[in-house]
Amino acid sequence: MAESQRAESESSGNLTEAEIAVHWKEEEYFVPPPKFIGQANLTDPAIMERFGLDRFPECFREYADLLTWDQYWHTTLDTSHAPFYKWFVGGKLNVSVNCLDRHLPLHRNKAAIIFQAEPEEEPPQVLTFQELWVRVNEFAAVLRDHCKLKAGDRVTIHMPMVPELPVTMLACARLGVIHSVVFGGFSGEAAGRRAADSTSKVLITMDGYWRNGKTTDHLANLKASLDASKADGHEVPMVLVWQRYREKMLSTTPLQKGRDFLVAELLKEKAGVRVPPVSMPAEAPFFLMYTSGTTGKPKGCQHSTGGYLAYVAGTSKFIQDIHPTDVYWCMADIGWITGHSYIVYGPLALGTTTVMYEGVPTFPDPGRPWRIAQRLGVNIFHTSPTAIRQLRKVGPDEPRKYDYHFKHMTTVGEPIEPEAWRWYYHSVGKDEAVIVDTWWQTETGGFLCSTKPGIDRMKPGSAGPGIPGIHPIIFDENGHVLPPGSQKAGNICIQNPWPGLMQTIWGDPDRMVRQYFAKYNKNPKSTDWRDWPYFAGDGALIAADGYYRILGRIDDVINVAGHRLGTKEIESACLTVPHVAEAAVVPVADEVKGRVVEVYIALKPTSKTPPNEVAQKVTLAVETSIGKIARPKTVHIVPDMPKTRSGKIMRRVLAGISNRMDTGDITTLANPDVVETIRKQVQGDAPVATKKGPDDIARFGKVD
Ligand code: WT7
Repeated sequence: MAESQRAESESSGNLTEAEIAVHWKEEEYFVPPPKFIGQANLTDPAIMERFGLDRFPECFREYADLLTWDQYWHTTLDTSHAPFYKWFVGGKLNVSVNCLDRHLPLHRNKAAIIFQAEPEEEPPQVLTFQELWVRVNEFAAVLRDHCKLKAGDRVTIHMPMVPELPVTMLACARLGVIHSVVFGGFSGEAAGRRAADSTSKVLITMDGYWRNGKTTDHLANLKASLDASKADGHEVPMVLVWQRYREKMLSTTPLQKGRDFLVAELLKEKAGVRVPPVSMPAEAPFFLMYTSGTTGKPKGCQHSTGGYLAYVAGTSKFIQDIHPTDVYWCMADIGWITGHSYIVYGPLALGTTTVMYEGVPTFPDPGRPWRIAQRLGVNIFHTSPTAIRQLRKVGPDEPRKYDYHFKHMTTVGEPIEPEAWRWYYHSVGKDEAVIVDTWWQTETGGFLCSTKPGIDRMKPGSAGPGIPGIHPIIFDENGHVLPPGSQKAGNICIQNPWPGLMQTIWGDPDRMVRQYFAKYNKNPKSTDWRDWPYFAGDGALIAADGYYRILGRIDDVINVAGHRLGTKEIESACLTVPHVAEAAVVPVADEVKGRVVEVYIALKPTSKTPPNEVAQKVTLAVETSIGKIARPKTVHIVPDMPKTRSGKIMRRVLAGISNRMDTGDITTLANPDVVETIRKQVQGDAPVATKKGPDDIARFGKVD
């Protein structure tokens, strides 16, 4: 084999991205129900022309005009530092005013948030716009007067799904304080590392919450958070602790005097205090949301104030079809971008009632979501393929037992199998609801691809075309465009910027350029947005009808239950166990969660500890450093890792073994014999599999 060919096969198993021919059945279309179309916000067939590339960027004025501005902007888009864009320059606004104050004159007593606790005997808690506004003002007074926070300061929020979370976020927004919400299910250590990266002045947490019928001592994470932050060079000086119930503590963790404060105590002196909203420049950073990438360090995606809010308001209105009269329930967690954009900011900016549920969807039984929908009169429902698969598996006939009616449903986070889609449509939606499959990312602030619910036909398993103002394109590795119907997968990119796109990665602008823009940029000095296609990191193909089908991540990221986990992050956690010499993490297809994590470990030759003990330690290390969501399904202790001659671990080969599929070409490995040893250990003596697996797994872990 020639040297160049060898390099090629080592790097990607003989195939380049563009050569992966994908053969899949075209699914039949479903048409939006006429009743839905009759009331839809977006039915104008000229919308795509209105948002055509020739109308860019002025088309996005339409989104910005959904907001209330203290000062109107003078420049829609400033590209002078491309790809660091500024939207609606010159404009000033406050997010909490847009989500609360401006709705008061007409809707003071309308429900803004309806909170459903996990214990079913706890009645729904209703916060009217007035009540939410009062609480946000009072808590903003605490942040301003007690914590001495001012615009631009950072705060880390590690909280569960309770109304105090949006109260906290909106109070930050009132002051222009940048919030960084860390998913409540993440470990204390993960929260602490993020607090250090953002040099947060305050950590806001909670005593406990309900999960699966039990209360969790959430405050027990605090020590690990503060220790991790300190280890990363930043000491968080102050901690605020909310309580799930005023009259008792759900945690036995002691508070440290002078550093930790109970919010309930601090609020006592703030009753009735009003805090004037701080008018923020449109391009001021609004919040950070950390996400996993190819390296071990999570990236703090920095979202803007005006552009972000305009984008989530616009997409909530046109794609989620939210009207102020709707009862909208997104079953995601606010700790992820979905919850920021489509539980809190989008729906509240439009003055809609947004439902929050504290607990597990299948608790105490799989009829729970449909009882909540029935009781609250939910008519828009938003969830993930994981939840859909789970509810279908354990309660396929539950939806029909309850009297609720959805007009609109969303799926987000990972590709949905057409079978699961059809169950969602027929059983959950009762053939009455339109479905949008929305493809987007933490970095993008809001939706990128989806059908327009009142206009486009639905196709199970396909996200659909770019939404108005978003112009996707698929490139092969060499930058050639893969046209509609070409049956080949490539890298999906967006040709133009949009207002919801993150501004930068906190503290690491170079990484922003490297990771998202460098790949297809030909002139790094260019200030023309046309030279900077946004590289999303997903494999995708476009069908003849212009619908995009997303295949999954092409980098070292595993999408577990709709959330990204970095393999490097998990591997570094494994390497904290002293006996571990090398660790490799791979995705394994899972019926419910889509993908789960499996870990391969090679021990140090000196280790005398029994392998199952090491395996337990590795699992614990992953849970402590990241959280239960990353918990490995299996930890395999193997004699050696399959490696290239240059010493790189071939995760693709391990992924092949874990998924019982073809491991690809292994002839060029430095140690090909170990592959069969590992295969026997993992699969037993079954014959070698040759099937091709899901594309993201087949591609997984390709080197460079
Ligand atoms: C990754 C982004 C977007 C909020 C939730 C996850 C995958 C997302 C879809 C979809 C197929 C999807 C992609 C993307 N993804 N939505 N509708 N169909 N795949 O946010 O944690 O930033 O993950 O999730 O691979 O890159 P995230």
